[in-house]
Amino acid sequence: MNSILPKLKNGFKNNEMIKESILKLIDKLSLNNHLLKDEYLMIFDNITFEETTYLYQKAYEAKIPYYQNRVFLRALIEISNYCKMGCKYCGINSSSNSIKRYRLSVDEILECCRLGFSLGYKTFVLQGGEDSFYTDDVLIEIISKIKLENPNTRVTLSIGERSKESYQKLYTAGADRYLLRHETASKRLYNYLHPNYMSFENRRECLENLKEIGFQVGAGFMVGTPTQTNDDLVEDLLYLKKLNPHMIGIGPYLCHEDTELRGNISGTLDQTLVMVALTRLTLPKVLLPATTALGTVDMTGREKGLKAGANVIMPNISPSENKKLYEIYQNKICTVDSSDLDKDNLESKVNSVGHVIDLGVGDYVDIERMVESDR
Ligand code: 5AD
Repeated sequence: MNSILPKLKNGFKNNEMIKESILKLIDKLSLNNHLLKDEYLMIFDNITFEETTYLYQKAYEAKIPYYQNRVFLRALIEISNYCKMGCKYCGINSSSNSIKRYRLSVDEILECCRLGFSLGYKTFVLQGGEDSFYTDDVLIEIISKIKLENPNTRVTLSIGERSKESYQKLYTAGADRYLLRHETASKRLYNYLHPNYMSFENRRECLENLKEIGFQVGAGFMVGTPTQTNDDLVEDLLYLKKLNPHMIGIGPYLCHEDTELRGNISGTLDQTLVMVALTRLTLPKVLLPATTALGTVDMTGREKGLKAGANVIMPNISPSENKKLYEIYQNKICTVDSSDLDKDNLESKVNSVGHVIDLGVGDYVDIERMVESDR
C-alpha cells in the first residue's frame, strides 16, 4: 500500500469526534469551494470508507447546478506512441524499447474523425506522445481539415509541451481545447518522476500560456505515484484552485513493468475517487472525466467516478490495431474489446448510475464560444 490516504482501507473506523470533524470539513468545502492546507490534510490523513459516502453525495450534488446529471462524451484518438520525453511512469516514454512504435497519418486521423462523427461525437481529442513528426504545419492541416469537414465540433489537443508561438498557431487554426496534465504540483515529486531535462516550471508555464491564448485548458494529476504523500495531494488541490482550469483529468497511477518505476504499488480506485470528489467540491464548474485509468483499476470505476462528481467519458475510437500499442500503462480497458464504440452499451452503463449522455459539444459552463468567423 502507498502512504496516501492511510485510513482508506478495510477495517478502519474513526471515533465520533474525528468523523464529525471530517463531515464538517466536507460541508465547509461544499459551501466555500475552498479549504486551508491543514483542513485538506485533516481529511486526507483521516478519511475512512464511512465518510466517503457523504463525500461522494456532496460531490455529485455540486455538479448538478451546472451540468445536471449529464455526461459529455469525447472521442479519443491516440495519434502516436512516439515520444521524446522520459516520464518515468509512462510505458511509451522514449527509453522504452519493448513497444512497437506507430503514428497515424493525416488521412488516418481524418478517417477516425469521420467514424467518430458518424457515431455522433462532437469533440475529437487528438492525444499522443511528444512526436516531432507533428510539426505546426502538419497539425494545422489536421485541425483545419477536421473543422472544415465537421464545423460544429470541438478539437482538443493532448500532445505535450510546445512553445507559446506553436500553441497560438494551433489555436488560430481552430483547436479549441488543450489537455496537459500538470502531473503533480509538488516540485519534489515532479523531479522524482521525471528526468533532469524535464522542467516543473516549464510545464506550468505551458498551462499559463494555453490559458492566456484562449484554449479551454485541462490540467490533472495521478493518484498513488511512488513516494507521493498527502502533502503532495494538498498541493495539487491548491494549485488547481489557483490555476482554475476548465478540465481536470485524475487517474490512479498504474505501475508499468517495463518502466524505471517497475515493482511499485499502483494507486487504488478509492484513493482516486476521493480525489475526484474533493476536486469537484473545490472547482464545482470543472469538466471532470471519469478516466480510462479509473475504468482499468475497477470494472465499474468510471461509473463510480460519475457518482463521485465526474461528468465526462472519453471513449477510445483509435484504430483497434493501434489501441494496444498505446500502452501508457498495462491492461488498459477497451484495447481488446471495442465496447465503448457500441454507444448503446456505453449509454446503459451511464444510465445504470442515474446519468444521461449529452451529445453536445460540452463546453465549460461559462464559455460563450466565439463563432468560427470571429477567430
Ligand atoms: N499510470 C497512470 N497514468 C499514466 N499516465 C502516464 N503513464 C501512466 C501510468 N503508468 C497519465 C499521465 C499522462 C496521461 C496522458 O496519462 O498523467 O499525462
